[in-house]
Amino acid sequence: SKDVLTLGIETSCDETSAAVVLNGRKVLSNIIFSQIEAHQKFGGVVPELASRAHLEKICYVVEEALKKANLSIKDIDVIAVTNRPGLIGALLVGVSYAKGLSYAAKKPLVGVNHIAGHIYANFLETNFSPPFLCLVVSGGHSHLFWVEDYGKFKILGKTIDDAAGEAFDKVARALGLGYPGGPAIQKAAESGNEDSITFPVAQIKGSELDFSFSGLKTAVLNYLNQQKQKGIKIKTEDVAASFQKAVVKALVENTRQAILQIKTDTLALAGGVAANKRLRQEFSKLSQELGIKVHFPPVEFCTDNAAMIACAGYYSFLDGKVSDFSLDAYAVSDF
Ligand code: KG4
Ligand code: ZN
Repeated sequence: SKDVLTLGIETSCDETSAAVVLNGRKVLSNIIFSQIEAHQKFGGVVPELASRAHLEKICYVVEEALKKANLSIKDIDVIAVTNRPGLIGALLVGVSYAKGLSYAAKKPLVGVNHIAGHIYANFLETNFSPPFLCLVVSGGHSHLFWVEDYGKFKILGKTIDDAAGEAFDKVARALGLGYPGGPAIQKAAESGNEDSITFPVAQIKGSELDFSFSGLKTAVLNYLNQQKQKGIKIKTEDVAASFQKAVVKALVENTRQAILQIKTDTLALAGGVAANKRLRQEFSKLSQELGIKVHFPPVEFCTDNAAMIACAGYYSFLDGKVSDFSLDAYAVSDF
């Protein structure tokens, strides 16, 4: 069959990204403009700043993605854009741009769910394929999916409060480690003792595959306050390491339960938190223990990027799920 070139566009949060992917797998370019600097002094993503920064960079990242792939818009077969979930103003920049480009260049348009995009990151530069269990852990989401086939997912569990990445970001902020919290906690934890403090990990009665991270976050905040009141100096590295251990433990335990329940032999990870080194070690251990395969996307495809959106869009396109110009942006997910 004919080669398909997909242009992916991602603007759901604080990364403006465009990518060109061949046949859903081969990444010809993946340009990411990170807004971290713009948000850093506020300790988190400021939605209005994000929208404006996307607007400033969207043309540039798309042009760069085409240039790096040695292509022009005429060569592209389909345009894929994240249209949910995310910051509404940020999403609208990508969706409006993609609609305009689709109209002007007469190319089909496909709307992509960002969480699905994270799952599809597992297919980039590999021949990895469904079925598998997928743990998606990002700044906004923590889900366990049974991925039966392309475009065919079932949610087995999800967070009932904070997402895993959100917990990393909030604890990092309390420790004065800055934004984004995940990489900062990972770095601090390297010189800390992860067994120095025992932080509790919530187990949800009756829905064992769901997650809860707000109790863990509160436990860390309480610990910090107590130490302060007692006049004891806080060892940031030890708190970071102990917190990281607790998050990873919760993720591993629920995933273990899911594997045993559905009896799969393949696990995949996805989302920004899946970039975490300690998490990768523990999931590798789990896979050895249970005798199953585990797949991690390269770190650059775990955090937000347009290549994963192009991949997801490619499979929707093959499925005939093309959008018209009524395509809209939505803050919440449709699954
Ligand atoms: O997937 P992503 O880039 O954006 C969302 O869709 O949310 O994930 C961002 C999240 C942030 O919470 C960030 O702190 C976390 O992923 N993160 C990490 C690491 N790198 C990014 N968390 C733990 N360890 C890391 N190395
Ligand atoms: Zn994401």
